[in-house]
Amino acid sequence: MLTQDELKRNVAAAAAEYALTRLKADSVLGVGTGSTVDCFIDAIAAHRQRFRAAVSSSERSTRRLADHGIAVLDLNEVADMPIYVDGADEIDLGLCMIKGGGGALTREKIVASVARRFICIVDESKVVERLGAFPLPVEVIPMAREAVARKLRSLGGRPALRQGFVTDNGCEILDVSGLEIAEPAGLEARINDIPGVVSCGLFAISGADLALVSSQKGVRHLERPEGAAGDI
Ligand code: A5P
Repeated sequence: MLTQDELKRNVAAAAAEYALTRLKADSVLGVGTGSTVDCFIDAIAAHRQRFRAAVSSSERSTRRLADHGIAVLDLNEVADMPIYVDGADEIDLGLCMIKGGGGALTREKIVASVARRFICIVDESKVVERLGAFPLPVEVIPMAREAVARKLRSLGGRPALRQGFVTDNGCEILDVSGLEIAEPAGLEARINDIPGVVSCGLFAISGADLALVSSQKGVRHLERPEGAAGDI
């Protein structure tokens, strides 16, 4: 029986192989955040000469990349990124995700938006029929916290401030439980529209293009069905 850490390492190794066979010597790789991504960074480290550099979605990943001697570029210097690799807290079969358990959702969404292909790496426990058991992280400007919380309550959610946590952008996170997420892209747009929201942890308007899912049986590929994400 493989442990969850072993499942993470297996999917990270599969993602490293997937990415390295597609990157060229001048390619820039987008790198997400989290414990699964930590394994991915470790897996690509020995092959850092096979691509030019990385763009990171958090201070945490930047430190790990730099510790491995992988060059990290500012996103403003990068116009083309073939692949972005990141984990998720939940992913559905349409490859819509909840992200932000590690608090890096905004930078993750920004870096992912530049990439041509989003590769999500998860173990089987993250695959769900409907998103929402995992509380939805919403990054907020601190002065707007209570105003945003009231709007989230009106959407049926129960927001809770992530205590003692400040994002890489100097903002706060509300973790919202109890939301009915029947239409992930529509709800993402509604929450994005609340003044004071920096970004929300729904990645549905633009979901993943491919998920690599690690289980006791190995790593399988889940492709996004045509038209599944981004339909508001
Ligand atoms: C970071 O903010 C998150 O979006 C992570 O991608 C997500 O929480 C998955 O993290 P783990 O790989 O640690 O489960």
